[in-house]
Amino acid sequence: MYIVGMIRNNFKLSKAIVYAPLAGISDSPSRKLAVRFGADMTVSELISSEGIIRNSKKTLELAGFDNSERPIGLQLFGANPDSMAEAARILSSLNPDFIDLNFGCPARKVVGKNGGSSVLRNLKLFKEIVNQVINAVDLPVTVKMRSGWDSRNLTYMEAGKIAEDCGAAAVTLHSRTRAQGFTGKADWSQIAQLKNELTIPVIGNGDIKNVTDVKLMFDQTGCDGVMLGRVSIGNPWIFRRIKEYLKSGNIPPEPSFRERINLALEHFDMTLDEFGIPRAIYKMRSRFAWYLKGMPEASIIRARINRSRSVEEIKEIILGYSLDLRNNTAYQEAPGGTTCIQRN
Ligand SMILES: Cc1cc2nc3c(=O)[nH]c(=O)nc-3n(C[C@H](O)[C@H](O)[C@H](O)COP(=O)(O)O)c2cc1C
Repeated sequence: MYIVGMIRNNFKLSKAIVYAPLAGISDSPSRKLAVRFGADMTVSELISSEGIIRNSKKTLELAGFDNSERPIGLQLFGANPDSMAEAARILSSLNPDFIDLNFGCPARKVVGKNGGSSVLRNLKLFKEIVNQVINAVDLPVTVKMRSGWDSRNLTYMEAGKIAEDCGAAAVTLHSRTRAQGFTGKADWSQIAQLKNELTIPVIGNGDIKNVTDVKLMFDQTGCDGVMLGRVSIGNPWIFRRIKEYLKSGNIPPEPSFRERINLALEHFDMTLDEFGIPRAIYKMRSRFAWYLKGMPEASIIRARINRSRSVEEIKEIILGYSLDLRNNTAYQEAPGGTTCIQRN
């Protein structure tokens, strides 16, 4: 067990592996799979505080979760401290394990309203939001932020200290600026500096690309948890493989084609249960592509899935593909792993 404690004033992590908030991706079915495969903690997609206080059905839906996704944080964004506090109060009635505050989103529609990473340009506002939310709820409140607006405005150290002084339970640092978007390299030395400075847990985030990177981040930064974003997309096995690697020092094999196809189909069923037919088909188009990435003729299968409109047809395409893989000797896998790709 890697979560040592999660009470408001005793939020302790040790080598926790955290499933990142990913808008449009880390929905309830994906979080369930992440936990099943070993994630120690999950965070919802970002949720608009203004949408919550206006009782928007679509926004409230993002806050739904199942107990099997625990420990889970519901993540809020916004630029108005009163709205953020009120929204946190409303979300806390759903009984998540913690509330997470988003100060990292670079998207124009969020930043344009002064939310997300934009708050890092105004640390007075940052402090007010963190303070008001912490005072509004009995749950632990965590902060997820970037290192600053741009390279001339690196505010992560100051923001981290403010968050700690206000009583935040933990801080996650995606060590890129807003200006970097998702390009360039995450600067892990910033995570190490923040960890050195704070007494609350620091979760490192940015550019974990394989199983071994997690150990590197722990070793190089001393952080208390590592958060995995893009590497986990269509790849929930990564959580289990990381755990095994941290324990044994051996890199476990990639999942086989069959495992990938079976899990993609299960994920489809879970998404159908959660969202119904048209939305599940829409959501799963990109997900099938991620699960099948690097497999033989995956692009042809992806194109066929994208054209189909019915659950039965999609399942037929996938099952037919699975049979083809099994029968075609050119596609046989080496024991214990794939022949085509290395995603470790
Ligand atoms: C498609 C996508 C959606 C994201 N949505 C969110 C979000 O809702 N909230 C958030 O705090 N970060 C969000 N992020 C940022 C990730 O949580 C993470 O900080 C970032 O991807 C860096 O980690 P990685 O290199 O492991 O992917 C998103 C990133 C991507 C690629």
